[in-house]
Amino acid sequence: MSKTAQAAPAEAVRAIPAKAAAEIADVSLRLVSEADRIDDAAWVAAARSAWAELPAVYRREIGSFRRHSGPSGAVVVRGLPVDEQSLPATPMAGGSVQRAPTAAAALLVMTACGLGDPAAFLAEKSGALVQDVVPVPGQEYFQGNAGSVDLMMHNENAFHEHRPDFVMLLCLRPDHEGVAGLSTASIREALPKLSDRAVDCLWQPEFSTQPPPSFGSPEDGPVRHAVLTGTPEDPDIQVDFAATTGLTPAAREALAELSDGLVAVARTVRLRAGDLAIVDNRVCLHGRTAFRPRYDGRDRWVQRTFAMADLRRSRAFRTDDGYVLVR
Ligand SMILES: [Fe+2]
Repeated sequence: MSKTAQAAPAEAVRAIPAKAAAEIADVSLRLVSEADRIDDAAWVAAARSAWAELPAVYRREIGSFRRHSGPSGAVVVRGLPVDEQSLPATPMAGGSVQRAPTAAAALLVMTACGLGDPAAFLAEKSGALVQDVVPVPGQEYFQGNAGSVDLMMHNENAFHEHRPDFVMLLCLRPDHEGVAGLSTASIREALPKLSDRAVDCLWQPEFSTQPPPSFGSPEDGPVRHAVLTGTPEDPDIQVDFAATTGLTPAAREALAELSDGLVAVARTVRLRAGDLAIVDNRVCLHGRTAFRPRYDGRDRWVQRTFAMADLRRSRAFRTDDGYVLVR
């Protein structure tokens, strides 16, 4: 077991009582038959309405995380209704997404409505609100959701002005050996470990973050940004250690110190079937430890949905006031 796994505190995992899990399963199954497509506005509206029918113990948990994600900026809700035995084979194709409603998709979209509103990016996974995070043959070394080597710590869509506020990861099936860990690290916990010099530098717009190729390259190159923004005592963070560069020697030094500080506070959780991890993408980074896919239909299968706390802010990036950001 790694040092970071031992450091994971008990409060990071919140167990849902079996009776509440059964009620969540009932509401989810009812929602499955409400429309043919997850991405229909009508189905999302039905999910928003169904959210109100979920047991109070679950809504309370999500509501309190939405208001304040705590020092770690992440939570794992354990014991949600996922029946691993009745699942189909884990998808293997690149860009795999869910289009037809399932109980798992219902749970993700209802929860997104509890955190804010679901959202997706047209350039990523064809704009589907519920996406499969699965290992893809030939992409083992890819620094993204299709890979299986160590995935470096990042804010989701760090380059984007309207990156998601919350990233939800629902584990349907763990990896064969149970070694893939979701790592999270929050700036709230790392900040006190950094030197004043590094912190001062991280507030300056001396960094740039490369978008993935699917988003196209803006003609004038990546935008310069600060890594820390907001209020000094509880800042937001914007960084992807696979895509962010410091534009000056001081910025590169500060980035290296930040990386060490985040590693020192990182927590690693090995997700089980029925675990829903929620990461507050404004203050917390995430990554994944390596695992070995077998491509036998029983590989690790996580489903992902993003939530925006204030969908209105990205209105200019969406057509027809839908849930997909087109740029
Ligand atoms: Fe990610």
